[in-house]
Amino acid sequence: MASRQLDDEKTVTGLVADAAAAPSMHNAQPWRFRYLTGERVLLLRADPERAMPRSDPDNRALHIGCGAAVFNLRVAAAHVDLVPEVRLLPEPQDPLLLAAVHLADEAGRQRDEDLARLHPAIRERHTSRHPFAEKEVPEDVRATLQDAAEREGAVLLFPGAWHAETVLDLIHDAESRDTLDAEASEDLVRWTRLGPEADTAVDGVPEYAFGPRKRDGKAPVRDFAGRRPVADRGTTTFEHTPHLALLSTPGDGPADWLRAGQALERVLLEATLADLATSLTSHALEDRALRLLARDPASGTGQVQMVLRLGYGPKGPATPRRPVRDVLEIV
Ligand SMILES: Cc1cc2nc3c(=O)[nH]c(=O)nc-3n(C[C@H](O)[C@H](O)[C@H](O)COP(=O)(O)O)c2cc1C
Repeated sequence: MASRQLDDEKTVTGLVADAAAAPSMHNAQPWRFRYLTGERVLLLRADPERAMPRSDPDNRALHIGCGAAVFNLRVAAAHVDLVPEVRLLPEPQDPLLLAAVHLADEAGRQRDEDLARLHPAIRERHTSRHPFAEKEVPEDVRATLQDAAEREGAVLLFPGAWHAETVLDLIHDAESRDTLDAEASEDLVRWTRLGPEADTAVDGVPEYAFGPRKRDGKAPVRDFAGRRPVADRGTTTFEHTPHLALLSTPGDGPADWLRAGQALERVLLEATLADLATSLTSHALEDRALRLLARDPASGTGQVQMVLRLGYGPKGPATPRRPVRDVLEIV
């Protein structure tokens, strides 16, 4: 097949819109894209203005969100019959340049069906901060999710009862710490959108995505309202035995975090296709020492990068994203 010219602006705009649908901490969308037309390379750069110095001092969560965007980009590219060739951190002297994705065309190569089939889930996946049913996740679905993580070089562990209790305690402690420490809530206040702003903001977590306040239950769901009143929110009982899954990587540096982000999004998209609702908790992982405590006590290895909560329940609402023209430059 002759090399297909990308209908650049339209194709790349679509790819970036899909990439930007990825989850990011507090929906900060800490990314910028630059498309080099001649080279057919899409660059993803971290946006330090959207970093969270207090809750994410090493930019770990920032890298995870950007990794998730890279994964969406791969899925979106496969969906339009392009072959994405990803280089992470391609220029060591430029650590904010997180990925370079060459968009090769299919010529003589198989389209990656495993990636392309995940495409519908990109727009269906939303974080759900609602209670889930006390219902098991079937073994075959768990195996699919574990396989998804493995394909991206990560491990997804379903913790046993004792380990899950430890993780829930760590999350609970992190929450209590934040309630007592006004500075710790600064990032949260900056990135939450209350009142009329919730309907117009293009980033941050809008109040309609907070979910109800927890009266009872053990589900680890961050309360984005803090002590601020939110109209029409309600209070309810969450599940007593939440289905947690811990995503780990072998190492704990920028490249591992970008891989963790890709693995996270692969797991979330597979979960969405399996009709599961999902939410994320990074609260207990914001501190390196606590991250070590969240490890699998049996193996004692690996770095826990994210706590996922899976279940059957209401899907979350779509949250806003910045317009593509604000995050993409084509040169
Ligand atoms: C690294 C990272 C950390 C996150 N931490 C939390 C968290 O602690 N609590 C929470 O409710 N959501 C968390 N999220 C989910 C984001 O708040 C969510 O992705 C964002 O608001 C966009 O909404 P969406 O996932 O529905 O598209 C996290 C997401 C990422 C990528």
